[in-house]
Amino acid sequence: MGGTIRNLLCLVLVMGSLGGVAYGQFAKPDEAIAYRKAVMVLNAQHFGRMGAMVKGEKPFDQKAFSANASLVSTFSRLPWEAFMVPGSDQGNTAMKPEALKEKGKFEQTAKAFENAAAELNTAAAAGKLESVKDPFGKTAQSCKECHSQFKR
Ligand code: HEC
Repeated sequence: MGGTIRNLLCLVLVMGSLGGVAYGQFAKPDEAIAYRKAVMVLNAQHFGRMGAMVKGEKPFDQKAFSANASLVSTFSRLPWEAFMVPGSDQGNTAMKPEALKEKGKFEQTAKAFENAAAELNTAAAAGKLESVKDPFGKTAQSCKECHSQFKR
């Protein structure tokens, strides 16, 4: 008897996982949308703090710059699975359906951002203001590149 119930439970679990859509680490598309937006908000905040120093609105503080560059480099590796969740181009989101339709292209622009952010982080750790300007510009360009293609 116990065995039969266990078998039934197993069957239910297997059917559940076969029948459901795979959302990766996320229970539903809304969660993935909230997660990736949160990471983007953090990106903008910490990237903007570096921007103020690059533009000369704030004095260059190597330690603060480096801390922000390290954070942005970490954020640049976080959210991509959340962008690829099926159905997450619908609802409370500014992501264009093209991100899901042209996965390869989206992943390429994400990778370009990751690489630029890693380069910026390395330059910041070593850095003077002059040495972070180019990698900062390259990273900013990679944000724009993706937004122009995949964000409404
Ligand atoms: C590979 C693509 C990609 C890259 C690179 C990227 N973004 Fe985004 N970003 C998006 C998409 C798509 C959205 C829309 C997300 C949504 O609404 O679900 C978004 C949304 C945002 C938002 C709005 C968040 C909100 O509250 O709705 C901000 C701010 C933002 N990005 C800033 C940045 C900054 C700053 C960078 C670079 C440091 C960056 N992004 C790099 C694709 C990207």
